[in-house]
Amino acid sequence: MTSFVHTLCAWQQAHGRHNLPWQSQDPYKVWLSEIMLQQTQVTTVIDYYQRFLERFPDIFSLAAAEQSEVLSYWAGLGYYARARNLHRCAQIVVAEYQGVFPQTPEQIMALPGIGRSTAHAIMAFCYNAPTPIMDGNVKRLFTRYFGIIGPTTSAAVEKQLWAQAEATLQTALKQNQHTLDMACYTQALMDFGSLICTRSKPQCERCPLAADCYAKMHHMQQQLPTPKAKKSTPTRHTVMLMLVHEGQILLEQRPQAGIWGGLLSLPEFADEETLLRYLQHRGLAPTSKKELIKLAAFEHIFSHFKLHIQAYLVRIKEVNQLQSFEAERRFYPLSQWQTLPLPKPVSSLLDTLSELSDSAS
Ligand code: ADE
Repeated sequence: MTSFVHTLCAWQQAHGRHNLPWQSQDPYKVWLSEIMLQQTQVTTVIDYYQRFLERFPDIFSLAAAEQSEVLSYWAGLGYYARARNLHRCAQIVVAEYQGVFPQTPEQIMALPGIGRSTAHAIMAFCYNAPTPIMDGNVKRLFTRYFGIIGPTTSAAVEKQLWAQAEATLQTALKQNQHTLDMACYTQALMDFGSLICTRSKPQCERCPLAADCYAKMHHMQQQLPTPKAKKSTPTRHTVMLMLVHEGQILLEQRPQAGIWGGLLSLPEFADEETLLRYLQHRGLAPTSKKELIKLAAFEHIFSHFKLHIQAYLVRIKEVNQLQSFEAERRFYPLSQWQTLPLPKPVSSLLDTLSELSDSAS
């Protein structure tokens, strides 16, 4: 009988992805790509990955960089804790391992921001270690093929999935005199979930595992993986200030903890009244409606909530209107906004502002 592992490897060789820029045995490249690919699609990651690697070609250049520069190469990808952890991780590998990436799953998992699945992917791709991965794609494939019922976020189901992944590999290793191409199998698991065993319309007619698939046999493709009980996502509201003076804009460095930690962003206020009071305090109160421009509000989606953003634009004309600001707030040249570590909605606002300025001039 052809096993699950061998069927997937054969599929990978014929139909999988072979030209992804991070496909190598270099732990730095594999680690960087795996971190970028957590919660982000391949097509989005490719450009970011290439730009990042050009600027930080090895772990030493990354460890030596300023956090703000690392964040500027991550700006727009979201989940910025990933970039802060990546940077800390590089510094630890340089300080404690002389820059040589550790080679056991335990040591890799002890690094900041690296979980079991990512550590196992690095072990499999770089050292051909028989360590299984368990990301969202693999969970979908395993719950369907093996008929594992229950939300994959529950600890019991998670444990069952890992046990199944380990057992599946052990079976294949025994069948194959203890040799397997782990890079091929690992990439197969990733590619199969995103190309064949997809979430809403799995391509069962093209699936080489269909004959033995529990979900296919029981017509349960739409019920597996079992969805987790849905909580409605709450909406938070914020008011952002775009204070512009002679081609410069007021930005603030956000605290390390919390959303957009360490990035630059626009000053925020609870509501319009608080914003106006802030401006009045500094003698910047707009004297006519013309000076306070209310931009179109929009929403930014985070994993746990929606952020409703209302931005106001204030242009200051006279130099003596400028007062000192809080320590974390200062002016930055608007012409350089594309090189600053800004969260996506703030980049969009500054993009809109450049368009407004272009059309006004
Ligand atoms: N998702 C996570 N890791 C990946 C990889 N190495 N290739 C493609 N997609 C992935």
